[in-house]
Amino acid sequence: MTSTMNQVDALQRARNALYDRFASRISVKESLSRNLVSYQGNKESPGLRWMKYKEGFSADLVQSLLSQHQAKTFLDPFSGTGTAPLTASCMGMDSAGIEIMPVGNLSAWAIVAAANGLNYTNFHHTSQELIASLASKEFETDQLFQHIPITERAFLEQSEQDLAKARKFVDDVCDPSLKTLLTLACVSVLEEVSYTGKDGQFLRWDPRSGRKVSKRWQKAELPTLAQALQRRLGEIMNDMPALQRKYRNAAPAFVDGSSLTELRKLPDESFDAVVTSPPMPIGMTIPEPMPWSWSTSAMMRTA
Ligand SMILES: C[S@@+](CC[C@H](N)C(=O)[O-])C[C@H]1O[C@@H](n2cnc3c(N)ncnc32)[C@H](O)[C@@H]1O
Repeated sequence: MTSTMNQVDALQRARNALYDRFASRISVKESLSRNLVSYQGNKESPGLRWMKYKEGFSADLVQSLLSQHQAKTFLDPFSGTGTAPLTASCMGMDSAGIEIMPVGNLSAWAIVAAANGLNYTNFHHTSQELIASLASKEFETDQLFQHIPITERAFLEQSEQDLAKARKFVDDVCDPSLKTLLTLACVSVLEEVSYTGKDGQFLRWDPRSGRKVSKRWQKAELPTLAQALQRRLGEIMNDMPALQRKYRNAAPAFVDGSSLTELRKLPDESFDAVVTSPPMPIGMTIPEPMPWSWSTSAMMRTA
C-alpha cells in the first residue's frame, strides 16, 4: 500500500515537473470543445462511425489543427482507426499512419475501399448473400473463433457458429475491397453480439457469460450475428455516397506495425506535420498486439 502511494506521489511530482517545464507554452483554447477533441465528433461521421473506437479523436479536430499550417506531408505514428491520415489526405497531403492494432488499419482500409471504386450493387448483393449464408445449419469447425483466455465465453454458441459461417463466406470472396469491407462489418459487431462491453480502459463482462463477475452490469438481450450485421451493412451502404464525395482519391499509407521499429526506418524530416495521441497509460507503448487485437486478428485473418 505504502509503496503504491509512493509511486503515485512520484508520478504526480513528475507530472508537476513536466507541467512547470512547459507551462509558458501551454494555453487554454476555448474553441476546443469536448465534442471536437474526442471520438464523440466521429459518432455520426460516415465511415468513422462503423467501428466503436473511443480512443480516436474527431476528424474536425485534425482538420482544425492542420488548417493552421502549410504542411505537404503528414504522419500519425499511433493512427488508431486512421482519422488523422484520412483527414490530412482529404486536405491534399501525402499522409501516413502507423498502427499496431490490426483492427485499426482494417477500419481505415475499409473507408478507403468504400470511397474508391467499390461497386454499390455488387456490395449490396454480396451482403445479402452473407446474411443468407448464416441461416444454414452447416459450419466448418476449423473456422470457429480462435479463443484466447480473455475472449472465452464472450459469445453465445449460436453466434460462435454464425461467426464461423461468416468467416467461411468472407474467405471465399475474391474482390479485395469487398473482402475488406465485409471483414470490417463482421469485426465491428463482435462486441455488440458478445457478453462484453468496453468501458474506458476496462472490459466489462455480463454475468450471463458464466464468468464470475458482478451482477450489476448487464447488457440488453444480445442480437444475433445476422441482425447486427444487417444493421452495419445497411449503415455502410448508406455512408457510401458521402464517403465517395469526401475520400475519393484519398490514399494514405497505413502501415501495420509498431512505431518503435517503423519510425527508425524513416529518413529524417520525412514529414512536415504530426498530429497524434499516444497510447495510454502514459509512458507505455505496446511492443506487441494486445489480447483483443489478437482475437480480432483471429477473426480477420482473411483480410
Ligand atoms: C489513443 S490511440 C490513438 C487513436 C487515433 N489518434 C485515432 O484517432 O484513431 C493510441 C493508439 O496507439 C496504438 N499503439 C500502441 N502502441 C503502439 C506502437 N508501439 N506502435 C504503433 N501503434 C501503437 C494503439 O493500438 C492505439 O490505437
